[in-house]
Amino acid sequence: MGMLAGKIAVVTGAGSGLGRAVAQKFAAEGAAGLVLIDRDKAGLADTRETIAAPKSCDIHARALDVTDSAALADAARKAEAAFGGADIVVCAAGIIGPFGKIVDCPEEDWLKVFAVNVHGTFLTVKHFLPLLRKRGGGSIVNFSSTAGLVGDPLLGPYSASKGAVTLMTRSLARNHAAENIRVNCVCPGSIETPMLQSVFDDLQDDPAAKAQREREFIAFHPMGRFGKPAEVADAVLYLASPASSFVTGISLPVDGGSVA
Ligand SMILES: NC(=O)c1ccc[n+]([C@@H]2O[C@H](COP(=O)([O-])OP(=O)(O)OC[C@H]3O[C@@H](n4cnc5c(N)ncnc54)[C@H](O)[C@@H]3O)[C@@H](O)[C@H]2O)c1
Repeated sequence: MGMLAGKIAVVTGAGSGLGRAVAQKFAAEGAAGLVLIDRDKAGLADTRETIAAPKSCDIHARALDVTDSAALADAARKAEAAFGGADIVVCAAGIIGPFGKIVDCPEEDWLKVFAVNVHGTFLTVKHFLPLLRKRGGGSIVNFSSTAGLVGDPLLGPYSASKGAVTLMTRSLARNHAAENIRVNCVCPGSIETPMLQSVFDDLQDDPAAKAQREREFIAFHPMGRFGKPAEVADAVLYLASPASSFVTGISLPVDGGSVA
C-alpha cells in the first residue's frame, strides 16, 4: 500500500525530467493506472522502462502533442474506456522558450511558448477534468515555476507563460472546489533535468560564460545547489494525494529558498 493506492493518474511531459520522476513516484506509491503523455515517443518508452511498477499498475503511454486538442480528447476517451475515470492529472509538459529580453522575442517564439505552456495546460485540464468528476473529485497539479512567481530577466517569455499557469491554477481551484476537485501548482527552482541543461548548453561555445551562468544560477538558491527531480516529485505527490485534502489554489515553491 502506498499514498496513491488504487488511484488513476494522468501525467503529461512524462517522457523526460520532472514528468518522468512524477510517473516513477506515482507507480512506487501504488497507483493502479497511469496514462503517460508526451510528444516524445522514445522518451515515453524510456520512462516506462524505468518504472519498477508492480503488475497491478496498468500503464498506458500516449505519444501526442498537448497543443493538439483532438489528440487529447481521444486520449481522454481511451482513458475513460480503460479506467472509467481518473483521480489525478499532472500537467508537466513544457518548453523553456527563447532567451533574452521580452521586447526582442520573435512573435512566433512568443506564441510557441504560450501554446505549449499555457494552451497545452488549458487543453489537458479541459479534456481530463471530466474524468475526475466521474470518480467524485480528484487533484490537478500544474507545473508553474519560480519564474511564474517573479520576473526573469533571461527568460521573459517563459516567465510570462508560467505566470499565466500560476493564475490559471488559482482560478481553476475556485471554479471546481465545490466539486471536490483540488487544483494546485508546483513552482520549481532550477532542477537537474534536460531543460535546465539546455539553459547552460545555450552557451556551450563559450565555456567561461557557461560556467559563469551555472554559478549565477546556483547562487540564486540559498541552499547552494540545484534540486533533484525526485524532490519535485515528492511535492507533486503531496498535492496529488489525500495528504493535502484541504489544500487548493496554492503555488508551492520547490526551490531551495530562492523566492523566500
Ligand atoms: N527543470 C527545471 O529547472 C524546471 C524549473 C521550473 C519549472 N519547470 C517545469 O517543469 C516541467 C518539466 O520540465 P523538465 O525540466 O522536466 O523539462 P524536460 O525538457 O526534461 O521535459 C519536458 C517534457 O515535456 C515534453 N513536451 C514538451 N512540449 C510538449 C508538447 N507540446 N506536447 C507534449 N509533450 C511536450 C517534452 O517532450 C519533454 O519530455 C515544465 O513545465 C517546466 O517548465 C522545470
